[in-house]
Parts: sequence; C-alpha cells; structure tokens
Amino acid sequence: MKFFLDTANIDEIREANDTGLLDGVTTNPSLIKKAGRDFFEVITEIAALVDGPVSAETVAHDHETMLKEGLKCAKISDKIAVKVPLTIDGLKTCKALRAEGIMVNVTLCFSANQALLAAKAGASFISPFVGRHDDVGFNGMELIEDIRVIYDNYGFDTEILVASVRHPAHILESARIGADVATMPWDAMKKLFNHPLTTNGLAGFDKDWAATGFSIL
Ligand code: G3P
Repeated sequence: MKFFLDTANIDEIREANDTGLLDGVTTNPSLIKKAGRDFFEVITEIAALVDGPVSAETVAHDHETMLKEGLKCAKISDKIAVKVPLTIDGLKTCKALRAEGIMVNVTLCFSANQALLAAKAGASFISPFVGRHDDVGFNGMELIEDIRVIYDNYGFDTEILVASVRHPAHILESARIGADVATMPWDAMKKLFNHPLTTNGLAGFDKDWAATGFSIL
C-alpha cells in the first residue's frame, strides 16, 4: 500500500520524506489555507521535494473553468494529480484531463456508486473520505470494502486512495482490505512506528549492552 501525506505543510512533508517511506502528497483548499502560503508556490515546492503524485485541487464548480484550472495546475509538474469533486462537471473534467494524459484524483467520494462513476470516467485515483463517514455514524471502512469489490469485479485500474484518515486503525483496515493508497496526516503516520514493547525492548537491550562493556564501532 502506498503512503501519501495529507498536508501542505512543507516541514511535515520533508520529515515524512526523510523516512524513505513517502509515496506522494495530497492537498485540498482547507490544507492550503492552513499552510498559509501561496497555492502555486507551495504546490511547486512539494512537487520538487516528493518522488510521487502531488494532488492539487481545483475550486471551480463548472466544467469549463474547472478544466482551465486543472490544465494550469498540471503545468506545474508531471507529478501533479488534478483533484476534481465528484459531481457531473467534475467527472466531465476528469475525462477531459485524462484524455490529455494528466493524472486525476476524484475527491469528496462518499458512496460506492460514486466511486463506480469515477472509475468509468477514467480517474487515476478515487478519494473516499472514511473519517467524515465515521463522523456521521457510518462505517467508513465498509465503503472501502465495497469499492474494492466493485473495482475488482470489473478490472478498473483506478487506485483507491483512502482519505480523511484520522488514526492508525484506518490505515490498518485499508491495508487489510487492499486499498492502493492511504493519505494521512503526519501525526497518524508517525504513530505507526510506535509500540510500547519496541520502546521497552530497546531500553532493556541498552541496559544489558552497557553492562557488557563491548563496543561495535
Ligand atoms: O484528503 C481529504 C482529507 O484532507 C479530509 O480530511 O480530516 O478534513 O476529513 P478531514
């Protein structure tokens, strides 16, 4: 499963990238606002830093303007995956951008039927929001299971990009189901490295090694 970071914060992206485990980045208008930086400047910087797809989201609602925005974003780098919303205009734009060979991430997906439409429109990625599903009393991971079954039934190569990830259990379930990508906050990714038995085990080995008086280097 690929690991994307869901942020426009360059410091976090740099830290995650340094682990050697980062496969891409996703952003959205709220994350751009949080970063407090110019949209084009920050997306250009992320694309230069990361060796993988970088999602940049369009903001227009109509197909014509959305397409213009998408084409402009795609000029930043061939790593750009243009993000469009799961609407009729969004999927029309998806088809048009894919015809130009541009990667497209269809966002704000909340049902398996929407995911089916995005795959038919040739989306490179579909972004179902699991955390926001959980927020309103549904089980977000059931949506991922349904999409996996449907995409496998028909051999769609649209990648399932689990979004709105809030904690390690979302990431574990995504991997069990066979999602292609999970995009997550840096805090959630960092938690994956931690286990109390690893911490305690290391402390025990440190203590015993110190008692031997040996040195490896
Ligand atoms: O990629 C979409 C994601 O940023 C939404 O996350 O936590 O705002 O639901 P959240």
